[in-house]
Amino acid sequence: MIQAVGDDIEILFSHEKIATRVQELGARITEDYAQAEELYLVGILKGSFIFFADLARQIDLKIKCEFMGISSYGASTESSGIVQITSDLTCSIENKDILIIEDIVDSGLSMNFLCKNLATRRPRSVRICTLLDKPENRKVAVDVDYVGFQVPNLFVVGYGLDLAEQYRNLPYVGVYHEPS
Ligand code: IMP
Ligand code: MG
Repeated sequence: MIQAVGDDIEILFSHEKIATRVQELGARITEDYAQAEELYLVGILKGSFIFFADLARQIDLKIKCEFMGISSYGASTESSGIVQITSDLTCSIENKDILIIEDIVDSGLSMNFLCKNLATRRPRSVRICTLLDKPENRKVAVDVDYVGFQVPNLFVVGYGLDLAEQYRNLPYVGVYHEPS
């Protein structure tokens, strides 16, 4: 198994635990959207790419895969709330059922921005599915419909999540500890 050799990362959710949870989420989504003609999964890059790939394969429905890049600018690792779309959808979502696939909802500012933005495109419905939820740090309320795991207010990496573009390939989610 890939380890972050020499780095201090404390495993929070093992690959096995994540796989079980992703299976449960996929089953729930499959049930909830059973009547939908088609479901548009919108993965938020880059952090959701591994979760997206695993979850998509646990959803037994007719799906379309779309991706968006968003980035929030501001000081340090704190989200500023000024969100920019760096890469947009390739199609109209008018009258479509949309499920946003996110890695982690932290302050909520990114999802708040995105939901408002997508709403202007007149979809039939928009829901959010996030692997991780860090509710202690919320600055704006966000309706998150599907949550993999709640995490404490600590910086986590792995399974798609990065620290300065590192650690995305770890098969688990862990807490990053600054080297002492
Ligand atoms: P929000 O706008 O504060 O909710 O920011 C969400 C985005 O910040 C996520 O999509 C992540 O890309 C990033 N982020 C927030 N917390 C963490 C973390 O603990 N580890 C890695 N990325 C994080
Ligand atoms: Mg993100």
